[in-house]
Amino acid sequence: MTTLVKDEKAKHDAMMEKINSGAKLESLEEITSEYRDLLLKLMIAQADSELAGAYGYVPWIEGAPTLAEKLAMANIVKDEIRHAKAMYELLERFPEVDIDKLIYEDNMKNRMQVFYEPIKTWTDLVMFNFLMDRAAGHQLRDAAESSWGPWSRTMVQIEKEEWMHVKHGETWVKRLSADPKTRPEVQRALDFWYPRVNKVFGKPGSESNKHFQQFRIKQRDNHDVRTVWYNEIKPLLESYGLTVGSIDQIEK
Ligand SMILES: [Fe+2]
Ligand SMILES: [Fe+2]
Repeated sequence: MTTLVKDEKAKHDAMMEKINSGAKLESLEEITSEYRDLLLKLMIAQADSELAGAYGYVPWIEGAPTLAEKLAMANIVKDEIRHAKAMYELLERFPEVDIDKLIYEDNMKNRMQVFYEPIKTWTDLVMFNFLMDRAAGHQLRDAAESSWGPWSRTMVQIEKEEWMHVKHGETWVKRLSADPKTRPEVQRALDFWYPRVNKVFGKPGSESNKHFQQFRIKQRDNHDVRTVWYNEIKPLLESYGLTVGSIDQIEK
């Protein structure tokens, strides 16, 4: 065995011992290149989703139906930009990450599919809050418990704010569903967004998912997170008189 391979093996063993004991990893010296690649994949995707989320909400400051709602939307946009900024600051510790290139070049190509769909109406917007910010909230629960200490600590506040966005969506979806004049429009928005947001959880039981879990970068399989989300939205939406598809209805 070469010294280099031996060093990497020793590093791996020490890292796994820490991970398995439930301790947090805090420095680049403690993590193997395999861990580092997986961690960066997830953190870069999250950073972009925060930014894309903010951009999608921007037109709804102007499009909001009341002045109070304009302020609510401006606050949501501010939250998402702050989430993006916090994520890119975490990425600054990794010299191999070119943050400007990510923000100004790569992002337009590598964005999650759901963010390419335009939010066309206020009903679309509040349904997106209801479904997508909630999906983010559940995914961030895993990030808040991740083995990478700096990320897990940063997630605590961000997670709280996502739930405020969800509440915003929930209040409006409930209100618009209560009126027989607007309920069909809410159902249409649900039918459109449901399979698209369902897709963001990713494939169940994949090999890469097992790796993420082994390193405690993720805590649960994608499908387990999806199930928690689904079991929450289904009874809520049904209580508003709406119909939601099956859990395996996922946009291709
Ligand atoms: Fe966010
Ligand atoms: Fe959000």
